[in-house]
Amino acid sequence: MTRRSIGIIVNGVTGRMGYRQHLVRSLLAIRESGGVALADGTTIWPEPVLVGRNETKLRELAERHGLTDWTTDLTSALARDDVEIYFDAQVTQQREKAIRQAIEAGKHIYTEKPLAEDTAAALDLARAADAAGVRTGVVQDKLFLPGLRKLKRLIDGGFFGRILSVRGEFGYWVFEGDWQPAQRPSWNYRAEDGGGIVVDMFPHWHYVLEELFGRVTAVSCVTATHVPERVDEAGRPYAATADDAAYATFELDGGVIAQINSSWAVRVYRDELVEFQVDGTEGSAIAGLRNCRVQHRAVTPKPVWNPDLPATEDFRAQWAEVPDNEDFDNGFKVQWEAYLRHVVAGEPFRWDFLAGARGVQLAELGLRSAREGGRVEVPELRS
Ligand SMILES: NC(=O)c1ccc[n+]([C@@H]2O[C@H](COP(=O)([O-])OP(=O)(O)OC[C@H]3O[C@@H](n4cnc5c(N)ncnc54)[C@H](O)[C@@H]3O)[C@@H](O)[C@H]2O)c1
Repeated sequence: MTRRSIGIIVNGVTGRMGYRQHLVRSLLAIRESGGVALADGTTIWPEPVLVGRNETKLRELAERHGLTDWTTDLTSALARDDVEIYFDAQVTQQREKAIRQAIEAGKHIYTEKPLAEDTAAALDLARAADAAGVRTGVVQDKLFLPGLRKLKRLIDGGFFGRILSVRGEFGYWVFEGDWQPAQRPSWNYRAEDGGGIVVDMFPHWHYVLEELFGRVTAVSCVTATHVPERVDEAGRPYAATADDAAYATFELDGGVIAQINSSWAVRVYRDELVEFQVDGTEGSAIAGLRNCRVQHRAVTPKPVWNPDLPATEDFRAQWAEVPDNEDFDNGFKVQWEAYLRHVVAGEPFRWDFLAGARGVQLAELGLRSAREGGRVEVPELRS
């Protein structure tokens, strides 16, 4: 068995996503499971190079995991021959500049979403990466979640008949930061720092809708900043200038209508933090992060509207659980493995910068719809 080591810059590794999902749950987990095996017997072995701004935090984090390769100097890390991949999990605003530097250094690039702050910049990155011949990828983790994988299985198996509509409900209460600390970084609530729920969540909704149901052809969106003042990590009050909720309708190729509510100012009365209800002529499903329940046409009850009577049926009990039927690994890790196979063995990987740019485009047009108060068509982006 040959081991193929591959140096990977992990920039923004001290952040929530960089540390937990990408370093610990993906790259270190891949090492713990023996690397990524290729068909020819080779094993891909990730060698993380931790990059960040704060020496103390980096050293402490590296020591915690027995790692020694870390630096605050991105330029010197990019100059190393043993580093082949640049990965970015920094705050969104810092991403474009760093990715441009990585393209110039000839590295393959994988990044958190959103790829850039606007469509023009995202497309430009896609074109520059293409011209440089580097292999790109953008995180689309929700596609690899058990709940959505089961939903995809139902679609592929023809369970729904003709799909009519999708209703998505995402959100939870993010504390304001005064009497309880907020559970998300404060930059998320400042437009001037790249925050906002549309920019954060629409790239996810884009790939979920496109991969499962069809291309998004138009968007109508209303946004709100329900909580106008919050308190930051240092205990200082600040003006929340970004949207913290978005109520959107997406029209899809083939006539499916999708409505998705996204909010950081909602209290959860659901089974999971995100749930999608899909209704089709033959059956319906509710998919969350992990679970998926179905109701077939043949077992659909016939409720009759009569507000004078109490509900006579237990509607929730009328749905059946879709079994796992396979082992589901962490979604971020599964996508990392696919990206590493793409870089090392040339296996197909369709979640590239152009796909990422389409997600940025949907966020941009969603915000335009909210600003102008109307429906906005979504033109097809090409490289
Ligand atoms: N795929 C997902 O489900 C998902 C979920 C949350 C966030 N994200 C994305 O991941 C990225 C990071 O989000 P996060 O929640 O981990 O944020 P975070 O604030 O926890 O981490 C941000 C990282 O960027 C670094 N950074 C570099 N330059 C900075 C600067 N000038 N100001 C502040 N920080 C700077 C920080 O040190 C830190 O390591 C964002 O682009 C976000 O959109 C993705």
